[in-house]
Order: sequence, then C-alpha cells, then structure tokens
Amino acid sequence: MEEDFSKYIDKPIFRTVSEVCNENGLSAFVIGGYVRDLILKRPSKDIDIVVLGSGLDLAEKVAKRLDIDKVQYFKNFGTAMFVHEGDDIEFVGARKESYSRDTRKPIVENGSLEDDQNRRDFTINALALSLNKSSFGYLVDPFDGLEDMENKIIRTPLEPDKTYSDDPLRMLRAIRFSSQLGFRIEAESLAAIERNADRLEIISAERIIDEVNKIVLSPKPSVGFKKLYDTKLLHQFFPEMVALQGIETKNGKSHKDNFYHTLEVLDNISKETDDLWLRWAAIMHDIAKPRTKRFHDKQGWTFHGHEDLGAKMIPKIFKKLKLPLDAKMKYVQKLVRLHLRPISLVKGNVTDSAIRRLLFEAGEDLEDLMTLCNADITSKNEYKVEKYKRNFKLVEKKLKQIEEKDRVRNFQPPISGELIMSTFNMGPCYEVGVIKTAIKDAILDGHIENDYDQAYQFMLEKAKEIGVSKK
Ligand code: CTP
Repeated sequence: MEEDFSKYIDKPIFRTVSEVCNENGLSAFVIGGYVRDLILKRPSKDIDIVVLGSGLDLAEKVAKRLDIDKVQYFKNFGTAMFVHEGDDIEFVGARKESYSRDTRKPIVENGSLEDDQNRRDFTINALALSLNKSSFGYLVDPFDGLEDMENKIIRTPLEPDKTYSDDPLRMLRAIRFSSQLGFRIEAESLAAIERNADRLEIISAERIIDEVNKIVLSPKPSVGFKKLYDTKLLHQFFPEMVALQGIETKNGKSHKDNFYHTLEVLDNISKETDDLWLRWAAIMHDIAKPRTKRFHDKQGWTFHGHEDLGAKMIPKIFKKLKLPLDAKMKYVQKLVRLHLRPISLVKGNVTDSAIRRLLFEAGEDLEDLMTLCNADITSKNEYKVEKYKRNFKLVEKKLKQIEEKDRVRNFQPPISGELIMSTFNMGPCYEVGVIKTAIKDAILDGHIENDYDQAYQFMLEKAKEIGVSKK
C-alpha cells in the first residue's frame, strides 16, 4: 500500500462497496482505466471493480443495498454490471490469464490482485485503489504506473513481447493512448510493437477501427498515425494510406510526400473540428493520388482526377475498415469529390454559374468543405499561405453573395418529376430525367430564374426539342 487517494474516490458507490465488503469479509479494488483517468483528471463513466472472490456475488449484494434491480450478469465471463448515478459499474473477480498464440481469448483462472494487475496492458492501466475499510483509497501500484503517468510514458507491466503477443490489440491501444494523452511509448515497447505488427491479423476489423477512430479523434492525430506507420501496423489494415508516402523526383522535379501532407491536413482540421467524419474526409482527400500520379515533361507531376477517383475508392475502403456505409460515407465522398472546387473558384474570371453549381452540389456541407480546403493549405511559404487564405476569403464572400441572391444551396427545382409525367401523360422514363436535369441546369447556369412560370415554359420547350409532346 503506497499512497492515500481517498479524496479522489468520493462517489457514494465506493463507500457502499467498501461497507458490503467489510460485512462479508471480502476485499475489493477499483482498477484500470477509471483510476488512470481519475489521476489525469479526465472524465470517465466506466468504473471497474475487482474483487478477490466472485464478481457476480459482490455485484448482487451491492445492488441489493442500493435497491438496484437491473443487474446484468455475464456468467461466462464472471462479470456483472449495473448503472448507478449515470456510471457503468462493472464487477469482476481477480483473475489470472494465460494465452495461446492464435486467439485473443485467454484461459482464465481465479487469481490474486497481483495476478490481475500482471495481466493488464500498461502500467498506467494497472493501478488499483483499495476499497477495503482499513486501507480505503490506498494505491496499489506494483509497476510504478504513477511515476510513468508523471513522466508521460506508456510501458507494459511485463516483458512487452509477451503483453503484445498475448493480445495484439494492445499494440493499437499503446499508440491510441500515446495520441490521446500525449504520452511517449517506451523504446522497448515500440520495438516490440514493430516486431509483432503482423500479429494484428488475429484482431477483428471492428476492434481495429474502434482504436483507429480514437486516434482520429485525439487532439493531434498525426502523433498516432506516424507511429502506426513507423511500426508498420498501418500497413496491416490501411495500405491505401501507406501508399501516399514517398517523394519521387524526375528531371529535377519532385512532388510532395502526400502521407505527411495528409497528416498535416488532419492536424489542421482537428484544430477546427471534433467531427469524426470531417476528420475522415481529411484523411481521404488525396487517397487516389498514388493511382493518378503522372509525370509530364512540361508540367511535372500531376494527379488529375484524384478527387473523383478518391470518392470512388471510398466505399471499398470504408467496407474493409468496417466504417459505416451510410450517409456518413456519402458525406466523406462528397467532400473528397469537391475538395478542389473552391480553389478553382479563386481565379478572377469565375462565373456566377460555377459558384451556383458549387453551392448546389455542396448544399448544407459547404462550410465543412471550406474548413477542409483551408486545412489543405500546408505550404511552408508563409507568403503563399497568406495569399491562399486571402483568396479563400474572397471565394467565401462570392459564395455568400450569390447564395443570398439566388438561394440555390438547398434548392429544389420548381418543377418535379411528377409534374413532368402528368403534363406529358407518361410514366417514369429516360425523357423525364433529361427534362428534369435540363431545368436544373438552366437555373444553375442562370438561363432562367428559379421560378415556377419560367421553369414551366422551359419544360415545354425542352420537351418539344427532344420530341416529347402532350398526348
Ligand atoms: N485491458 C487490457 N488489455 C486490453 C484491454 C483492456 O489489459 N486489450 C485492461 C486495462 O487495465 C484497462 C481495463 O482493462 O484499463 C479496461 O479496459 P477498457 O475499458 O477497454 O479501456 P480503458 O483503459 O478504460 O480505456 P478507454 O475507456 O479509453 O477505452
């Protein structure tokens, strides 16, 4: 027993557990992530309580004392949980684990507190605070986790090769904690991750993406992604991002390293937004650059069409990474597809029609698109950065002016497909689509106003032109 942390554990649940243990001759501790976050002053709602004995029995007794009747028992895992004052309280018996090479599922036996701490991933996650009456709030820290916390170090309690090989997900957790908390991974640990990187193959894509998303949401995600790259973990599950790395030079002309550029864009955007999907748009914005890269004697390196191909690559990548294939994916696709458009509007002679088209296509995601475009400015030349940012302000102003005038952002053409069908007495067919698109284009291009009568007249003319007549 080392230090007194009783002032930290002031929630009523801890006193109740303590009383119940005292009455029943049991010994219990609050352990793991909750203790870590308590000391780091990070909010946490997951409280893990480990007991020398049965977690199920202790949970039942504590729940009874608190008049809680909704207790979930997971008999196979020997755990039980309930919600108390908004916190998830989980009870488990102290355990000893042994692993085989081809699965994350260990053989579990009852064990001592020390056994339980030994099986944990990092010293900072192995801290336990006593809930026993005579030592309430005392820290049990056999691996100097508190010191590692002060020195901001991620270290495994046992030999790192063993900890990582037992459960390869921990390699990602090490990098995730380092990115979330701004901690350094101890050199031996980092070397062990490199050695064991291919063991990630036994981890499911769902678990991998859970950790990766936490890296994406960390304050400076490049910290995590650089480590994923250096340890070659990234190569295991996201080769398309790895392919962005590298600089090629031909005839004295080089292109930038698109991997490090992407990370700069990601860090930039992370200063502006906590939205996971906008951050994913930053990760994906140049994803097709390796596949569209060409060298021309005059122009040098080009990546023509990388925005369209990038948008096309996204469903396959999202599917493989187990990211959602719903509106969030569509949103990322849209931003990737449009990410060059605002820059192209910087040129002086841009038409109102081009502005209206962008307003229409970006719709409600226009601000996010502009955030992405601003984050995409990563030139080291301050003068250039200033110039680009100034130009963007002008584009933003133009977009605003045109939107105020023409209201095309959430625009619905005044003539619907149904009206076209009923006017010409026909069912859904190719011609309906042609007329509908023509009306939309005529409005966006400024040939007619966004107005019912003008659009109706235009519909009649277009129908005549393509040989559709009223029957
Ligand atoms: N743990 C472990 N190995 C893992 C996962 C978890 O040793 N692969 C242990 C750690 O002691 C961890 C505890 O189980 O602190 C609880 O795990 P979990 O709730 O998944 O994570 P936290 O560490 O609490 O962190 P976060 O809530 O940020 O995921």
